Amino acid sequence: MDSKKYPFRRSQAWFGRNDKDGFVHRSWIKNQGYPHDELDGRPVIGICNTWSELTPCNGHFRELAEFVKRGVYEAGGFPLEFPVMSLGETQLRPTAMLFRNLASMDVEESIRGNPIDGVVLLMGCDKTTPSLLMGAASCDLPTIGISGGPMLNGKFRGKDIGSGTGVWQMSEMVRAGEMTQADFTAAESDMHRSKGNCMTMGTASTMASMVEALGMSLPENAAIPAADTRRNRLAQMSGRRIVEMVEQDMKMSKILTREAFENAIRTNAAIGGSTNAVIHLIAIAGRMGIKLNLEDWDTLGAQVPCLLNLQPSGKYLMEDFYYAGGLPAVMREIQNLLHTEALTANGKTIGENIASAPCYNREVIKTPDEPFMKDAGIAVLRGNLAPNGAVIKPSAASAHLMQHRGRAVVFENIEDLHARIDSDDLDVDENCVMVLKNCGPRGYPGMAEVGNMPLPPKVLKKGITDMVRISDGRMSGTAYGTVVLHTSPEAAAGGPLALVQNGDMIELDVAGRRIHLEVSDEVLAERRKLWVAPEAPKRGYQKLYVETVQQAHLGADLDFLVGGSGAGIPRDSH
Ligand code: FES
Ligand code: MG
Repeated sequence: MDSKKYPFRRSQAWFGRNDKDGFVHRSWIKNQGYPHDELDGRPVIGICNTWSELTPCNGHFRELAEFVKRGVYEAGGFPLEFPVMSLGETQLRPTAMLFRNLASMDVEESIRGNPIDGVVLLMGCDKTTPSLLMGAASCDLPTIGISGGPMLNGKFRGKDIGSGTGVWQMSEMVRAGEMTQADFTAAESDMHRSKGNCMTMGTASTMASMVEALGMSLPENAAIPAADTRRNRLAQMSGRRIVEMVEQDMKMSKILTREAFENAIRTNAAIGGSTNAVIHLIAIAGRMGIKLNLEDWDTLGAQVPCLLNLQPSGKYLMEDFYYAGGLPAVMREIQNLLHTEALTANGKTIGENIASAPCYNREVIKTPDEPFMKDAGIAVLRGNLAPNGAVIKPSAASAHLMQHRGRAVVFENIEDLHARIDSDDLDVDENCVMVLKNCGPRGYPGMAEVGNMPLPPKVLKKGITDMVRISDGRMSGTAYGTVVLHTSPEAAAGGPLALVQNGDMIELDVAGRRIHLEVSDEVLAERRKLWVAPEAPKRGYQKLYVETVQQAHLGADLDFLVGGSGAGIPRDSH
């Protein structure tokens, strides 16, 4: 190797040796047809790929990786693509979230154990983004993110329909007798008609926006549709850029600072982003050694206006968002709330990146003076029902329910809900508060997206479309409603939610940030004596998960994964 041309790199601890180990590391790689000089000390770029046919949102990632490789080669690097566990939101049971931390371990160990100098993260479907960021953060090599991009707008019988959001709407219409089963089935083929991830501002698009707001990607990463070749161009440019980042030793920790996370929280409010971002950003920050907590969401985000008129909070979809100017246009509008000096992956500050970002459609991207919604950031609730907090997304809730007092209708778990929700005997009306237990990190396990419980048909038939709902679960970023989520501690950990009974009165006061169960401490203490913890899994990953997972307000990471171990060179393998 030419040591003047290429300074010592991490990958040279594998490829730069003349002994038996160097032979082994080089020779087997060469079976893929690489010439000897490919291993001469140029930056080796690992392309961490979550491609899988079982993760349809990431089904185009083999192709996307080819564009990254073009860029890496152009800049003088050597790209090597590798797979990691891919989490498909729509197929994985009991919930993809159960495996976010497992996938992050796969990512972390795959990076650290291999001859890699810099990393490109290919992310799309909901959990693939946080799992890759978490794993890479625990290694802290130079890293750039590329999202797969949203699908083209769903088109059903002349109208736009949005991923997820349209499913929730239409399934309630079927339950209310307003849509036929045949029409409902027909919509399946029309909602998802191109490659990409959910095209509402659900969790995937929220997290792609967080990648960009954090500075972990090139500008425009959030919104370019997957089917638009400008996405491929972004991938190629990112491939070029990661080689420079290695040469500049621009590690993840130079980008993922406290300021970057604060920018992300504020941006999340401005886009009406998913409540899932709360848990994921806290977990990613934890890997970086940055303490982010629920209060940060309230103090930083709550007063930020929502500027985006996108489903599930509004009308439009991601394709419209990109054509309107995309995330840079939103961030420019709130730049006085941002740490504009925060560094981003292209080597410029976020302020430089957004300085002249144009907006082409004010129907889609509003201004702080005339926002889509005021004070729209995620609100953190506390009270005797959630001593460690719960969250609600005001932009997706109903104004008339933000202050509400109602009688609890309790479901012990998701099976109980499914068994009774459609029954005429269920004693419920629109003023009740629906309570669902045992859907938290330990309880489900994995904290499933079941918090937006379906409404009872007898309520739906009156034309009612929202009720107050409370659980220790999450909800899909594509969902909506006056839904209190992430209640901590969760029921399965003995949180007060476990003690709620039918007929108890519950008060929700979003402006006052309060969630209160009107039952005395004495009565709750009596009920606690009778409470029995649900049975825990006995083997395998689920056992490890339940024994070590942290509560939602801490990010639901496994306790022993918080923090990082860097990317020191492991011992010889032979
Ligand atoms: Fe994959 Fe929505 S299901 S992004
Ligand atoms: Mg989802």
